[in-house]
Amino acid sequence: MIAASGHASNTLIVPNATLAQRLIAWQKCHGRHDLPWQQTRDPYRIWLSEIMLQQTQVSAVIPYFQRFLARFPDLAALAAASQADVLEAWAGLGYYARGRNLHQAAQQVMQHHGGHFPPDPAALAGLPGIGRSTAAAIAVFAFGARAAILDGNVKRVLCRHAGIEGFPGLPTVDKKLWALAESLLPDNEVEIYTQGLMDLGSGVCSRRRPDCATCPLSADCIAFAEGRQNVLPSPKPRSKLPERASTFVLITDGRAVLLQRRPPSGIWGGLLVPLEGEPEALLAQLALVSERTQWLPELKHSFTHFRLTMRPVLCQLAKRPQNLNDPSWHWQELAALEKAALPTPVRRILRNLLPPQ
Ligand code: ADE
Repeated sequence: MIAASGHASNTLIVPNATLAQRLIAWQKCHGRHDLPWQQTRDPYRIWLSEIMLQQTQVSAVIPYFQRFLARFPDLAALAAASQADVLEAWAGLGYYARGRNLHQAAQQVMQHHGGHFPPDPAALAGLPGIGRSTAAAIAVFAFGARAAILDGNVKRVLCRHAGIEGFPGLPTVDKKLWALAESLLPDNEVEIYTQGLMDLGSGVCSRRRPDCATCPLSADCIAFAEGRQNVLPSPKPRSKLPERASTFVLITDGRAVLLQRRPPSGIWGGLLVPLEGEPEALLAQLALVSERTQWLPELKHSFTHFRLTMRPVLCQLAKRPQNLNDPSWHWQELAALEKAALPTPVRRILRNLLPPQ
């Protein structure tokens, strides 16, 4: 017999208890036992609750669950209803695909399974709206099956406890987590264990503020030991930004550089930037002759939607031309660079034009 861990400490009376033993003992003492879909083996109620709970919290589900049951008291009633009536009862829960799938699954169970949910997790997972984890939860709670669940909350618990790196949405990480979830399953009391995982994941091992002081798994939790609760599970990798490149032509007479004021809105709105384009073409267009052309080191800058490689090229004129009369153009004195309204990466590029300090 395993004694439950005390609420304020993680002391275990039985040393070396398995994760499952500790979780089961904890669930009995500190878990939830009186949710409206507990204390029943009715597959219809259990299935309905699991579908409603897929993207919605327990507190929000409870009133919907009760109203839905009052309107469709059993599987036959739900299967016989019109889709419009089902979606009306679902209204407010969101993710309407769940409501449509629920209705279709009810009809399939009536037609193909004689009105009885199949007890096998794999068969359950063949029904609309039932994934591998939901199938396992239904099989465990309704039929006492020995099957592993792995919803978002459980992934968080396992990533933290086992110190699993990598975004759980990646197939390699997902595979590892399923294997771990299967390996941790106890031989007995799988219902209590499963409910314990759910209770721990939605409460104690919350995303932002895990309450490790009361957690029955903290004694060997890697995230807890390393203080990495806030970085495990690893976040979704940011998608790679598209790459762009632009040549910044630094036309200078040695004292000032020719800049152009950007339109007020958009990237670098209202700021001064060098002219962009191919240097030869640009110089020809402006009837300018470069006495010395020199490519300067590239600079990368990330915007929210793309990454820009800036290729600065210095074009040294013999003297400042007087005929450049575009009102958006501005000869920026190099001595006054620090006070000018320049984007930070442009300022960095232009500092290369200053004489060494
Ligand atoms: N989340 C998903 N299934 C649940 C259940 N049966 N009890 C509590 N929370 C859950």
